Amino acid sequence: MSKLTLPEEAARRRTFAIIAHPDAGKTTLTEHILLAGGAIRAAGAVRARGENRRTQSDWMKIEKERGISVSASVMTFEHDGKMFNLLDTPGHEDFSEDTYRTLTAADCAIMVLDAAKGIEPQTLKLFEVCRLRDIPIITFINKLDREALDPMELLDQIASQLQLDPAPIWWPAQSGNRLRGMIEVGTGNFQPYARKIPGAVEDAGHPEALHIDAASQHFEAGELTELREAAELVEGGYPAFNHQSFLEGHMTPILWGSALRHFGIDELLKAIGDWAPPPKTMKAQKAAPPETRNAPAPVDVTVEPGATEVSGFVFKVQANMDPNHRDRIAMFRMASGSFKRGMKLKVQNTGKQLSVNAPIMFFASDRELAEDAFAGDVIGIPNHGVLRVGDSLSESGLVRFAGLPNFAPEILQRVRVKDPLKAKHLKKALDGLAEEGVTQLFRPELGADFIVGAVGQLQFEVMADRLGEEYGLEVIFEPSPYAEARWVDGTDADIEDFSSKYRSQMARDIDQAPVFLAKSSWETGYVMERFPKVAFTKTKERG
Ligand code: G4P
Repeated sequence: MSKLTLPEEAARRRTFAIIAHPDAGKTTLTEHILLAGGAIRAAGAVRARGENRRTQSDWMKIEKERGISVSASVMTFEHDGKMFNLLDTPGHEDFSEDTYRTLTAADCAIMVLDAAKGIEPQTLKLFEVCRLRDIPIITFINKLDREALDPMELLDQIASQLQLDPAPIWWPAQSGNRLRGMIEVGTGNFQPYARKIPGAVEDAGHPEALHIDAASQHFEAGELTELREAAELVEGGYPAFNHQSFLEGHMTPILWGSALRHFGIDELLKAIGDWAPPPKTMKAQKAAPPETRNAPAPVDVTVEPGATEVSGFVFKVQANMDPNHRDRIAMFRMASGSFKRGMKLKVQNTGKQLSVNAPIMFFASDRELAEDAFAGDVIGIPNHGVLRVGDSLSESGLVRFAGLPNFAPEILQRVRVKDPLKAKHLKKALDGLAEEGVTQLFRPELGADFIVGAVGQLQFEVMADRLGEEYGLEVIFEPSPYAEARWVDGTDADIEDFSSKYRSQMARDIDQAPVFLAKSSWETGYVMERFPKVAFTKTKERG
């Protein structure tokens, strides 16, 4: 039993995600953060691909084959009196929708840059998502053990391309073969870097930090003076770190290191513990399930992390994580309350109640039953399709969090199963994947086709792979006549007026919401003009 009060428990949570352009070192950094946090004992555990590795950073066969991470997961560890929840986000751009949803569950992001490359296209995209959601960002500049760009040039990129004020916390003493360590800006504290001895199996670790005045043995002629001069320039030239400005998304503290060489990682973890915000007060609504008769109008409320009622939302559903059990696990981010195993929670939009008897916490080496959890935590709730992405859950069943959007897909394809006898199975499988948010599924009002929508081509490949692997279905994707999908909103009469004229292009999504499948963007523009009372939207908020 926890001796801390509820608000104290919430206040010691740090729920964060790592964002990076592919290859910048997100996986390596994840692993070394877990190592520094004492969650794993040896490097290689996150990447270890044994039979039982499905609970770790990425789960799916396709990820192993392609070396990319497609499914977001969470890992929890306790360190230095704080509980850290690390959300893993897929780096590939075709999965930005999934990443977006995961970032709705994060309170802070670690932006990893490759020191030799600086800001890359995917860094920018992910950054924009963080900015949209007001998520504060800690920057980690990785791969200092290789030749890097000039540090000032890197900070200039952050300032000019992201409009963020960089506040260097440390400053590197060169890079690559000449990397000597890094100095803490304003304190004179120096952390030496030790190269790995060629051929050595064991990594000896880095020497203890010491004051720069006592660190001359770590430098060659002239280098120390150079570093002192650089440190002086940096101190005078950049603003000092301001916590409030960071929380408001104006400033980013800059840390440096080498994930691979476990350099700068303890400093990063400390920065997350000290500065990343605890779960914040969230906006929500108090609303009865939609079908309730004579329900009072929804009212806006705020949900305090330290409030007693358990509430939160599902930001991801993962199916078949364990090939031995065909389970479906909803990732539930808690916004408030003190959760106890066995508790009954209600889904706001359906009014359905479920007993959460086997909630899962994801520790790096294993999954364990969660006995209790607090705001900021993410628990996995096994279920058989009752829970969807975007669902709000609470004890009263009245709390509704909005803001988890579905994006209009950019590619629409028809899907067919090779063996016609398996058509029924296909529907079930497609529903399952759509509920997970892997792809979107549209059922045209006329005809028996299934139209699958995705933001990127790779999603179709993942889908085909999973349909084969998990459902034993061999499928074929074919071009569809449609170029765009738009959710249709308005009064029942207006929607019906529009639908009756475009019946052959009307479809339903998995929630039965009406969708217009346009043959071109020109057509979308045309119907928007012709039916001004109907809204044609690119996103649909779930929940
Ligand atoms: P990602 O998840 O962001 O895509 O990056 P990942 O960690 O997989 O790292 C991409 C490559 O960069 C890997 O090399 C990894 O070892 C390397 N790397 C990560 N951090 C550092 C670092 O601090 N210094 C150096 N020198 N390299 C780093 P790879 O050869 O593609 O893969 P692997 O064979 O090493 O696994």
